[in-house]
Amino acid sequence: MRASRLFFISTGRCVENTIASCTESAHLLFSYQASKTKSSKSTPITDSILTCRCFGLRYLRKLRSVNDRNQQQFNTSIIVKEFMTDLAAQRKKLVSTSMDQIKSIIKSKGVNRAALEEVKGIVISMTEETKMFGDSEFPTPTPAEIAKIYLLSDEDDGDFSLYLISVLPVGPSPIHDHGTFAVIAGLDGDEENTIYKRLDDGSVEGKASLEIDRKVTLKSGDTIAFMPEDIHRICVVSEKPTRHFHLYGKGFEQQSNRLEFNIEDGTTSAAAGSFIPVDVSRRVV
Ligand SMILES: [Fe+2]
Repeated sequence: MRASRLFFISTGRCVENTIASCTESAHLLFSYQASKTKSSKSTPITDSILTCRCFGLRYLRKLRSVNDRNQQQFNTSIIVKEFMTDLAAQRKKLVSTSMDQIKSIIKSKGVNRAALEEVKGIVISMTEETKMFGDSEFPTPTPAEIAKIYLLSDEDDGDFSLYLISVLPVGPSPIHDHGTFAVIAGLDGDEENTIYKRLDDGSVEGKASLEIDRKVTLKSGDTIAFMPEDIHRICVVSEKPTRHFHLYGKGFEQQSNRLEFNIEDGTTSAAAGSFIPVDVSRRVV
């Protein structure tokens, strides 16, 4: 059992109620009848604000109310559908819904730039839910850690892996591809992406000729997509750590086709997906 405190604030009134049985991932259908609270005059309540303090967090929700004029008393009905008092449950629902949409797009349209544009729209919408992915639940790395990689969702074979990754102001990374599609969306911090154009046809194994195509700095609310063969290098250029969503067609452990590039030598080499251990304790789907 967990207790949430519910505060109903209206014109000059504050009625406090305690909900004592908010179970995790509950979809709470709450109907509050204030008819026992007599009032000398009817007080229509519209566009009221419900403030719920749940586990130290605050949410604001607009409510509908009905004023019973016939009884000339303060009679308000409040129905809150899907009132999710547990932030983890909200996060699970968001990630689950988003991943279902992403999988549907990729499975129906394939991996191409047009499909990734659609996927970008879904991942970027997740960045609006900053409280669900805050520092308390997903701590930024310590100086010794450099980066934290939190797995949020994947399939058994590593397909459709979604991570929340936080990186200290370090870099640049090696020049690399992922051998799978990627969509990155910024929650916080600035990450400079240097994107390269491949000049050779890839016919000689271990060789590659590159030149810089463009630079894009990924900031909060920005998103970028990469096809499996796209080549880039990242560098955290903000003073604070980055906090980004990373969606990959294959998870880091399954990115067996990943290459790193030495632009001076014109060579390529196989590379591991990540040298940072993946924290799977926040996996929600
Ligand atoms: Fe990358």
